[in-house]
Formats: sequence, C-alpha cells, structure tokens
Amino acid sequence: MHGLHIRLPKNFVLEERLERYAAAIEPNPYGWRGLWAAACRRSDAAPFREVRLDLGCGRGGFTVEAARREPDVLFIGMDSEPICIAYAAQVGCESGLSNVVFVPGSAMRITEMFAEGELACIYLNFPTPFPRKKDSGKRTVNFERLMDYRHVLAPGGQVRLRTDSQPLFDFALTQLSIAGYEPVWTSRDARADRPDDPTSEYEVKLGGKGARVCAYVATPGEEPRDPHQTAEMSLAAYIPQDLGTYDGYAPHGMEATIQNLRNRAAKTGGDWSSGVTI
Ligand SMILES: C[S@@+](CC[C@H](N)C(=O)[O-])C[C@H]1O[C@@H](n2cnc3c(N)ncnc32)[C@H](O)[C@@H]1O
Repeated sequence: MHGLHIRLPKNFVLEERLERYAAAIEPNPYGWRGLWAAACRRSDAAPFREVRLDLGCGRGGFTVEAARREPDVLFIGMDSEPICIAYAAQVGCESGLSNVVFVPGSAMRITEMFAEGELACIYLNFPTPFPRKKDSGKRTVNFERLMDYRHVLAPGGQVRLRTDSQPLFDFALTQLSIAGYEPVWTSRDARADRPDDPTSEYEVKLGGKGARVCAYVATPGEEPRDPHQTAEMSLAAYIPQDLGTYDGYAPHGMEATIQNLRNRAAKTGGDWSSGVTI
C-alpha cells in the first residue's frame, strides 16, 4: 500500500465491506465523466454548486468533514487503494451526508474520470511522497499531473496541497512553476495560519508526532508551451544541510534517510551531502 499503513482487523473481508458500504461508493467512476454534479444529486435537490475531488483520500475523514461544512458542493474522495475506499465509505455512510461519494481510481487517469472544467478544486492532502528518484514518477504533485489537472479544473479552479514533508513541498513548488500555476497562498505552518481548515487522518496523526504542515493553494495561469522536467527528482536533494531542521520531527517516509544522514554527518564532522542518492 502506498506508504499507508492500515492495521486491518482480524475479520476484515474487503468484498464484504465494499458491499456493506456500497451506498457511498461509485464502483464505475469512469462512466460518469462530465455528469458528476447531475448524477449524484438527490432527485428532489438543486444541482450541486460545484464538484471537488479529494485525491488520495485515504480513510476519508477530510472528505466527509469538508462535505459536512458545504452541503451544496459535491465532494468526491478518490483513492487507488480499495481498502481505503472501504474505510472511507463506512465514514461516508455513517455521516448520513448525501453530498459525498468515494471512488476507486488513480490520479494517472484523472482526465478519463472528469471532463474539461468539471472540478472546482483538487485537494492533495498528505500525498504519498515517494522520496526515491526511481519512484518519483508516481507523485501526484508532479508537473505532468498538474498539466492533467489543468484540463479538469474549471476556470479559476484550484489545487490545494498539504504535507508534513518540507522536501516534498519544495519539490512541489518547482512543479507549480513548470506547469504554469500561480500560487495563491503558501504556508510552512498551515495549522497556525488557517486553524479552522478541516484535517485529514494523516494531518492528525503526524501533527500528534510534531509535524508542521506545509501548504499551497494554486491556480493555473498561462499554459506553458513546452513544459519539461528541470527539477531534482530525489527528495534527498531538498534536505537542508543543517539537519537540525528535523530535530523533533522527520518527514513521514524519510525518517530512515534522515537518520542515515545524521550518522554520516557524525562520521564526517558535519558534511553529509557528498554522494547522497535515494
Ligand atoms: C499518505 S496517504 C494520505 C491519506 C489522506 N489524504 C490523509 O491525509 O489522511 C496517501 C494516499 O494516497 C493514495 N494514493 C497514492 N497514489 C495515488 C494515486 N496515484 N491515485 C490515487 N490515490 C493515490 C494512497 O493509497 C493513500 O491512501
């Protein structure tokens, strides 16, 4: 599972769960491209004001809380892990909300699931960082994904990232500029700056361990003509020379790397940077 460690109860049977909470799941999301707002509304209700996607929704806590706060907006939680969809759908069903639905699917196929301009906002809450260069193509913050998000976002639409990982955040900022996005807001302590924003399970869990939240809100600007990758792809490249930055908290998924760098720094008298590859 993409960096998500869910301890399953002994008697967890995925198919049985998916069936029990089917009311909050759309099993064939690719069939609703261009139709989401109309297809998901209750027959007696007004059309949804807009549609927003929680991409990589995990257990769905953020999706459901956001939906509870804005009943006239349709919130779609998408995750590539069926186990996450099963858990999220349970939360969705138990909430009693009719403006939230969960779908299995991958960021890599987002343009097959949503039509041009169909989404007002894409949330990327604590995306899997994939720190190694060899896995970096799977990150949902990469410029290739941002170019896809451009197509499905409505005019003025937004991508909203939150992460505990300063290296991932610094990498993600390079991708915004390659894909021609304008940052509307950035923060390196988003909980302090916007304490009322809803939280996800990861934000609560990692916040409890001392994580600060880095965040951006960005909107597509002029479309770049020939976007291509110019950034360092290993997240090790974004680790500051002063490892004291990570006293008390190391970014999720990079704990072992940072410990190795500390060991190396101890041996070399401070310089850990030569020849680092992850
Ligand atoms: C670290 S978890 C964060 C979950 C949740 N957003 C939160 O903040 O609690 C990252 C989630 O992204 C999902 N994921 C990773 N790559 C994905 C992709 N390409 N498309 C959809 N979901 C993805 C994983 O399965 C996992 O549930």
